[in-house]
Amino acid sequence: MPEVDRHATWGGRFSSKPDSLMQVFGESVSFDKRLAPYDLKGSLGHASMLAHIGLLTAEELNELSNGIKELEIEVLKEDFPWKLEFEDVHMNLEQALMEKTPVAEKLHTGRSRNDQVATDMRLFFKDACSSLQISLEGAMKALLKVAEKYATLPIPGYTHLQRAQPVTVGHHVLAYIEALGRDYERFSVVAKHSNVCPLGSGAIAGSTLPLDREFVAVALGFVDEEGNPCLTPNGMDAVADRDLFVEFAFACSTVALHLSRLAEDLILWNSSEFGFVVLPDAFTTGSSLMPQKKNPDSYELVRGKTGRIVGNLTNLLITIKGLPLTYNRDLQEDKPPIFDSFDQLSICLAVVKNCMEATEFSEEKCRTAASDPLLLATDLADYLVSKGVPFRQAHHIVGELVGLAESKGILLTDINENDATSLSEHLNGDWKEVFNLDRAFLLREKPGMPGPKQISSRIAHWQSILAD
Ligand code: ARG
Repeated sequence: MPEVDRHATWGGRFSSKPDSLMQVFGESVSFDKRLAPYDLKGSLGHASMLAHIGLLTAEELNELSNGIKELEIEVLKEDFPWKLEFEDVHMNLEQALMEKTPVAEKLHTGRSRNDQVATDMRLFFKDACSSLQISLEGAMKALLKVAEKYATLPIPGYTHLQRAQPVTVGHHVLAYIEALGRDYERFSVVAKHSNVCPLGSGAIAGSTLPLDREFVAVALGFVDEEGNPCLTPNGMDAVADRDLFVEFAFACSTVALHLSRLAEDLILWNSSEFGFVVLPDAFTTGSSLMPQKKNPDSYELVRGKTGRIVGNLTNLLITIKGLPLTYNRDLQEDKPPIFDSFDQLSICLAVVKNCMEATEFSEEKCRTAASDPLLLATDLADYLVSKGVPFRQAHHIVGELVGLAESKGILLTDINENDATSLSEHLNGDWKEVFNLDRAFLLREKPGMPGPKQISSRIAHWQSILAD
């Protein structure tokens, strides 16, 4: 056999092998080798289908299947000799199978690397979605423990990073649980969209051979709830489509954005200026110069890696934009951003989980900050509304009251009765009751509000969803 044939499965029409620079430039095995388990699974499914339609004998299928199983073990043991000159995971594995059995020459019958890689990635996405869902659950459970422990601990809620209204740690942390719950759903959707089999599309136009697309789809688990095979309906779309990559990268990005905002809250809360939380030593670091420092690096990295994860989404969108149908080699660049988003998000979720599990709130600091009467200025306007004052007027009256307190350098609660009544006749008697935090929360018992019953019912909701 001339040397060129041993170096590429497509060597037939070439008189020389690729330049060594081209080999290094064009290879993808350094990163797509992680698809090996999916590639082998896909090959076994494809081989079973070839046997089913009579293009392989039972004995040949057996040979291939034994070879594939051996390769699965070698790949798992991580001692598989990946070779750059075989370009990608598909050709490395096919070549390795050839070493085991000559029947491997028949494996690629009716198949192209285009539908092969599309299949591998769909199998990868199914696993990746469920793995990230497990990681999401871990982080959500850790957050839920915090919400349970500090369900009624008041803290200021912020808009524009200015103290706005009192909430509780339970309410604030539950906000993140709700967001991560939506992320969980998004991965279910991506997994559902992944569940369609491209095999049989060939390069773009299928095959003249009597392939049984339904058979291979079922063999690989691309089935709906009733067990019916799910097939891509257009061969050109099947090999050109990278929607799933974008969807997956987007789903990773929304999780990352949520974690990044959580990280930002914790970084602020951990600062001396807020002092609401004490982060665990195990997830903070010191300064090489300043002995007193304890830096929230874990959360800063979660925030920092979000840029990378969002960048991966942008990378994919720009790679795909402007490609004519169908497959173009540019598409080989679709995998590094996907693997990176998966890896980085997995570790971010693990860090957030471990960090949250060991985070303590400083009850005193939280209560002191939440006791600022200005936080209940809106409640005072509501009080006036309940006395029949139109809201706009009530807003104005309380605004004047706030201005008065500010000019006198006193708290809203320290304004004397005469000054108050001069602004509104209704500000007499029990108006200062409004500044009782317990009252403020008890009056907020509609869905979505931070009333104690609302918080405990939402905690119970998530407890039942996240129960083992
Ligand atoms: N390594 C290639 C990729 O990831 C596999 C598909 C190659 N197809 C081709 N027509 N060259 O995109």
